[in-house]
Amino acid sequence: MSMQSNYDVLVIGSGAAGLSLALRLAQHAKVAVVSKGKLQDGCTQYAQGGVSAVLDANDTLDSHIEDTLNAGAGLCNPQTVRFVVEHGKESIDWLIEQGTPFTPEDPTISSSGYHLTREGGHSQRRVIHADDATGEAIESTLIVQAKQQTNISLFENHIAIDLITTDKLNLPGQRCLGGYILDRDRQQIVAIGAKAVVLATGGASKVYLYTSNPDVSTGDGIAMAWRAGCRVGNLEFIQFHPTCLYHPKAKSFLITEALRGEGALLKLPNGKRFMQRFDPREELAPRDIVARAIDHEMKRLGIYYVMLDISHKPAEFIQSHFPNIYRRCLEFGYDITREAIPVVPAAHYTCGGIVTDLRGRTDLDGLYAIGETAFTGLHGANRMASNSLLECVVFAAAAGQDILSRLSDLPTPPTLPAWDESRVTDSDEEVVVSHNWDELRRFMWDYVGIVRTNKRLERAKRRVDLLALEIEEYYGNFRISNDLIELRNLVTVSDLIIQSAMARKESRGLHYTLDYPDTDDKQSLHDTLLKPKNYRPANADEPVGA
Ligand code: FAD
Ligand code: SIN
Repeated sequence: MSMQSNYDVLVIGSGAAGLSLALRLAQHAKVAVVSKGKLQDGCTQYAQGGVSAVLDANDTLDSHIEDTLNAGAGLCNPQTVRFVVEHGKESIDWLIEQGTPFTPEDPTISSSGYHLTREGGHSQRRVIHADDATGEAIESTLIVQAKQQTNISLFENHIAIDLITTDKLNLPGQRCLGGYILDRDRQQIVAIGAKAVVLATGGASKVYLYTSNPDVSTGDGIAMAWRAGCRVGNLEFIQFHPTCLYHPKAKSFLITEALRGEGALLKLPNGKRFMQRFDPREELAPRDIVARAIDHEMKRLGIYYVMLDISHKPAEFIQSHFPNIYRRCLEFGYDITREAIPVVPAAHYTCGGIVTDLRGRTDLDGLYAIGETAFTGLHGANRMASNSLLECVVFAAAAGQDILSRLSDLPTPPTLPAWDESRVTDSDEEVVVSHNWDELRRFMWDYVGIVRTNKRLERAKRRVDLLALEIEEYYGNFRISNDLIELRNLVTVSDLIIQSAMARKESRGLHYTLDYPDTDDKQSLHDTLLKPKNYRPANADEPVGA
């Protein structure tokens, strides 16, 4: 790649959102997709349970909408929920057309012809899946398709550092012009100019010490959009998945909620069930309730994990429905057909993000955000299981349609200045980055986790402010690296999460604080929208989440 290359559309991120969008555009536009690791290194690849959509004759759109609204604890935007749910079936059909091998089922049992599973919050079986490795099936299908498109250029090991905007270049107008990208193999920074730029960078769960997410989930898109003048919304709502395998070597290994959907029970180490004490839906209550119940029991009893048990089901059923989990657990010494396994909650999903409208437009003209990085209003205060992959595919289609409808009107980007490295030197102390990375993730876990208090949030705020100063100074003086880019973004996003959590003076959905344990519908039924200093009024429709 030369120092500047131009495309019609620059897509940052190659998960379900980014690749679906690139494929939607490929017939009509020249698209660059950059991915900071391998193409498949995102959350999509690790998704297990499936994708929710109304596919069965006994299910209804209204039921999916109602379940989503209930899980969202009063904060979902009903317009967005309806929009996503109504586009569910066509999104699944599109994934099937691309070649996604969803698990079939006898049509006399499931009218859709596919096996549909259940997860927390869903009153119906409506989660279509590919065994227990749905994400891998979707991601590998989309990669195969994208590689066949001559209009799509795929750049692995290319990490976006920052967006290039008219503001930053002191040019008239107010729009996004492209991005600075570090080619990690050549250690070279290039500028990519584009008529439209799409952030499809996934979530930010790596701000926490324990997470189900892969290493790439450092909230880069949220931080870049914030620096470019876009609002972010509802970042206090971080979803903790109740059941990750507790094992020193099982880094981030999730045990799908579908296991509970098919009858797995949560137990204390002494074998006693406990979910009935917390919610009438027991193991299938929405995730916030299950994660908090586990956290409560762990703290009450001083235990490091609780148990998840599906061994009462026939071995053949378990092996055929959950072949990957069965195999992986065996590798760690657990036979799930015979015994319960130890599980703990871990940070899993970022419900808030960059404010967008129903076309994926952000506050900055020419900049879109889709997938987990976006705040569309779908999830409210708590995302219902398997609604996020659906959101990725629905908003990829919507943004694609919007971009194509205006492509010929969007200005070609000007010549962009090269990245200026004249004032920086090689770092003399890499330990600053690794130390601050560890410190950040530890205090976010301890102070901004499943249960919060004013005091804990204040402590976290003091620490994040200090880290922000140190990192900005380091960033200004030393040559940029992948870890430094990510740490700078993690610090920004952590700060935004803390500020959002401090602003919410109630407990709702995933945000639970001992200082305000009740839900306050009179005063607090609103989204938490944060505006950066360089925010200027909207390019998008009024945010759907607002
Ligand atoms: P990702 O798939 O995370 O992709 C992000 C992309 O952005 C990656 O390619 C990454 O490399 C790239 N990127 C990030 N920053 C930069 C940068 N600065 N420069 C260049 N590239 C960058 N949801 C469901 O609906 N159903 C499920 O069953 C389900 N199971 C899950 C299981 C696990 C273990 C996890 C972690 C999540 C699960 N989720 C599930 C959530 C769902 O997988 C994610 O929300 C969804 O895949 C996000 O897709 P995405 O395209 O937005 O982001
Ligand atoms: C799971 O399979 O439990 C994860 C589903 C999701 O996060 O939507």
